[in-house]
Amino acid sequence: MAEPTVPVKVWDGWVRLFHWGTVACVLVSYVSAKTDNWDIHYASGYTLLALVLFRIAWGLVGSDNARFATFVRSPLAALRELARFGRAGPDVATTHNAAGAWMIVLMLALLLAQAVSGLFTNHDVGFTYSQHGPLANWVSEATSERMSGLHVQIIDLLLIAVLVHVMAALAYRLLKGHDLVGPMVTGVKQLPESAARAPRHGSAALALSLIAAAAGAVWAVTRLGGGG
Ligand code: HEM
Repeated sequence: MAEPTVPVKVWDGWVRLFHWGTVACVLVSYVSAKTDNWDIHYASGYTLLALVLFRIAWGLVGSDNARFATFVRSPLAALRELARFGRAGPDVATTHNAAGAWMIVLMLALLLAQAVSGLFTNHDVGFTYSQHGPLANWVSEATSERMSGLHVQIIDLLLIAVLVHVMAALAYRLLKGHDLVGPMVTGVKQLPESAARAPRHGSAALALSLIAAAAGAVWAVTRLGGGG
């Protein structure tokens, strides 16, 4: 008989705010770029950058299970996790699994690169109007050109990574019966009693300070170039 499960709060509200805020920003940034709505594109890009900076900080000093030191393990551990994929068994994870962790690091790196490159873009690549990021005039034309090229290339890599990410979540649901999406929405996961140890969550004061610092840093960067 299967072991009884109990609800455990695995994801704090800050990780969930980051996750779904990021999803919204990626969507809005993509659509606004395709439809030449540049004010919206800038606003969502800046919000995305603040979210990613916050998540990096939260990954260093935030909730135990949100820390990189907790969930990023060796590539060998990731391969072992993939090799175990076909095996049945209940979900006992209170953080990202070793394979998902590398995908998350990759997506964070791509999101950061996408948002930062946007700060240095100019109108020559992929833009129909004379648009440029707030730091485009702070670097040489060649660097701005390179950043502009990266900005329109990284999005494709990011979309591929997101596709793999969503398919992986779906595969865990369909093939292993593990619900990963529900906990990313509600914060709560059903865990077998023997594995039900709630992680220590970081304080709201710390999270709000980090969000304010991230937003302040992005605001300062946009002011550097006289806004954009
Ligand atoms: C633009 C689209 C998306 C991006 C960039 C993205 C990125 C991420 C990132 C960075 C994390 C790590 C969260 C953290 O530790 O802070 C994550 C986790 C997660 N995402 Fe997404 N995501 C996207 C869309 C989605 C969608 C549409 C779903 C739903 C099917 C989803 C399901 C999940 C789940 C279930 C986790 C937690 C996985 C686990 O339990 O280890 N994501 N995502």
